[in-house]
Amino acid sequence: MAESDSKKQQYVPVEIEKFRHATRDITFDVYIRLAEENFAHVFSRSTGLDYKRLAHYIQKGVKLLYVRPEDMPAFHAFVARTADQVFNDPATSNEKKIATLLNMTEQNMAEIFSQIEVPVETASSTKVVVENYVKLMMENPKSLTLILRLVSHGEYLYYHAIATAIFSMFIAKATGQFNRRMLEIVGLGGFLHDIGCTQLPKEITDSEHELTPDQWREMHKHPKLGLNMIETTSNIPDEVRYIVYQHHEQPGGNGYPNKLRGPVIYQPAKIIAIADSMSALISKRPFRAAYKVEEAVEIMMAEKGKFDSQLLKVVEQIFVRSYQGRKAA
Ligand SMILES: [Fe+2]
Repeated sequence: MAESDSKKQQYVPVEIEKFRHATRDITFDVYIRLAEENFAHVFSRSTGLDYKRLAHYIQKGVKLLYVRPEDMPAFHAFVARTADQVFNDPATSNEKKIATLLNMTEQNMAEIFSQIEVPVETASSTKVVVENYVKLMMENPKSLTLILRLVSHGEYLYYHAIATAIFSMFIAKATGQFNRRMLEIVGLGGFLHDIGCTQLPKEITDSEHELTPDQWREMHKHPKLGLNMIETTSNIPDEVRYIVYQHHEQPGGNGYPNKLRGPVIYQPAKIIAIADSMSALISKRPFRAAYKVEEAVEIMMAEKGKFDSQLLKVVEQIFVRSYQGRKAA
């Protein structure tokens, strides 16, 4: 928590924007100004940036953070080492690139999930993240194996969004039916698919027990709530809106909110449905252990009518192979 600093010290103002698209590691301390001479320590060199808190400050309209004068060289070095630069440096290892991307993604997700409506700037930075994932996939087909090793499934809704987006892009690419623009749309849809859940009570989204029928009725509203949140965001393509709205429809007609049937459901929404389920199954939950990748695929294949069977075959090929690659690594 913020700790008050009463000593008379000098602080240099720096734009909060400089911390966006940056890596999490900082080698200096960061302060926020509470009043004329009153600064509070908010990020420390030992623990790094806290993206959730950074998103909160940006949302509150904070424009400046503060750094001690003696730390300015470290701050400049930090600004020069943005995630984009790490990503575009040929000398950077793939593992470092993926870790950096996941970092950037986490920052974006923290912003997205703290909003009532998704602003144009947040949508733009999410697009940059997605473009980098697509680039990585194109350049390095083995990156799924690395990502499976590095993605952490934490308690936050946005970890799930990260995994869903990444898995969706890999599945879409493996079908061979998607060009680069559509892969980016699938990725964006994957990141945003569950944003409507932020509008539901925490007892429902964080429930450790099976939901009651009433709670399920509430839960079924999240595709529409999500659609509302991006309705007026001008730079989000319509295709992403279909994904958000249809990601719980099922080819067998038992999905929600509209019980659409197979051919009517938008193909990218079917991909997100599978990636969503995959991410949930391989995550550890309060009421069960995480399933192994091949077990997750088996479970999904056994649920007749819930997922597109052609797509499941693609999933089996790419994930089971990657999982075996991971075991061998
Ligand atoms: Fe959902």
